[in-house]
Amino acid sequence: MTELVLPNDTNTLNNLMGGRLMHWMDVVSAISAQKHSNRIVVTASADNISFRNPIQLGDVVTLTAKVTRAFNSSMEVYIEVFAENIPSGTKFKSHSAFFTFVAVDQGGRPIDVPELVPETAEEKELFEGALRRRQLRLVLAKRMKPEDATELKSIFD
Ligand SMILES: CC(C)(COP(=O)(O)OP(=O)(O)OC[C@H]1O[C@@H](n2cnc3c(N)ncnc32)[C@H](O)[C@@H]1OP(=O)(O)O)[C@@H](O)C(=O)NCCC(=O)NCCS
Repeated sequence: MTELVLPNDTNTLNNLMGGRLMHWMDVVSAISAQKHSNRIVVTASADNISFRNPIQLGDVVTLTAKVTRAFNSSMEVYIEVFAENIPSGTKFKSHSAFFTFVAVDQGGRPIDVPELVPETAEEKELFEGALRRRQLRLVLAKRMKPEDATELKSIFD
């Protein structure tokens, strides 16, 4: 997904507003989760996001999103954000983040999604790490007991 940073997207320093960028991240990752599941999806959580360098008015922002792993009804999506200033020829990776979406039926109830089979080395690495990240976010959301987080034993023991 590609966006041009326009005046209405910026703060008073002429930098892209973080909230606008998070909105674009939500949209691109929701589309990715919809494509995997062929379902309506809702955002369940967004992992921590840090903005190190500002993105400026007039920059072109490119967001990529891919489902890294599907669990039962939930899917983890990996988002990468790049900013490019075309006149000056500069481009940098702004940040990356993981969002979780849940596929739901027309009544808003979670519904199972197809499994995801990773193929490339990068996809396999993201797939492997997804279980650990899922457990961490569920513990932090108080939806899993720390003692049940099998992948996090070294942190909680
Ligand atoms: C996300 C939501 C559908 C979960 O519904 P629920 O009745 O709590 O369902 P369950 O407890 O059965 O959990 C369903 C899935 O959501 C996942 N989930 C729930 N809360 C989560 C969280 N904070 N982070 C990550 N995953 C979460 C569960 O792990 C489970 O995944 P699985 O099916 O792959 O194992 C529900 O909380 C909801 O509709 N939230 C609002 C979503 C929304 O409106 N988002 C936009 C912002 S307002």
